[in-house]
Amino acid sequence: MSGQNEKTRPLALVTGATSGIGKAITIELVRLGHDVIAQGRNETVLDELSDHQGVTPLNLDLSDMGELSTALEGAQVDVLINNAGIMPPAVSFVEMEQAHIDATLQVNLGAALAVTRAVLPGMVARRKGHVFFTGSTSGQAPFPNMAVYGASKAALSSFAAALRCDLSGSGVRVTEIVAGRVETKLYRDALSDQARSDMYAAFDPVQPEDVARMMGTVLTFPAHVDVTRFDILPTAQFVGGGGFASKGK
Ligand SMILES: NC(=O)c1ccc[n+]([C@@H]2O[C@H](COP(=O)([O-])OP(=O)(O)OC[C@H]3O[C@@H](n4cnc5c(N)ncnc54)[C@H](OP(=O)(O)O)[C@@H]3O)[C@@H](O)[C@H]2O)c1
Repeated sequence: MSGQNEKTRPLALVTGATSGIGKAITIELVRLGHDVIAQGRNETVLDELSDHQGVTPLNLDLSDMGELSTALEGAQVDVLINNAGIMPPAVSFVEMEQAHIDATLQVNLGAALAVTRAVLPGMVARRKGHVFFTGSTSGQAPFPNMAVYGASKAALSSFAAALRCDLSGSGVRVTEIVAGRVETKLYRDALSDQARSDMYAAFDPVQPEDVARMMGTVLTFPAHVDVTRFDILPTAQFVGGGGFASKGK
């Protein structure tokens, strides 16, 4: 695994690097001079990413964490982007299948905690590092048909805040990215193609590159400055009552 030997460039690990926000963040980290372990399952995109200098693909299914410690053995990760996530079918909780509940909690929450647990001791020992979590406005306010997804993101938000307490004085920074609607493939299983395109057509969504740019700004602050959380939403979106304003309003 990249990062085993003497390092000249900082090493980042991005989960969910093969699509949307994670892919844009991976490319931004390369631009900022990082080597990147890019985790995902899509072989085609992993191959494409490995064309970028310093990117090491990691094909790992986060619903089965058995291979995690082997995969990360020896890697001295400086920046961890806990980003992989899934959106289960958008149905009322009473109709939701247990398999979708389990998968959502595992990929969105369980995996982020496990990867963080694996990487953090090295950061603490080296007295530096930065851990990001891709949270969501769904973890800050209720949305219909998103109870489990929202619960996974609310838990992630709480975890990130408490982790910061545990890490106080360690030199390791923690940032939660609270994202509103970003135009990605996240809703591929949750909504029909038509419903997805209607959702994005109703207003101007944030683009993955916008989130990556903000992540880069936060990361490049001096080591003694920690932006603990940033919210990034479409200008037309508001949270906590009304959902979305329509475009132009
Ligand atoms: N898009 C939004 O509006 C929005 C808003 C708030 C928060 N978020 C959060 O942003 C993060 C990134 O989502 P996105 O919008 O960029 O969606 P996306 O385009 O669907 O990307 C999701 C990523 O997660 C990976 N992933 C999913 N299940 C996995 C598994 N079992 N094992 C390994 N990797 C897995 C995917 O990899 P493979 O395809 O290779 O499996 C993919 O790289 C998620 O945590 C999401 O909840 C998104």
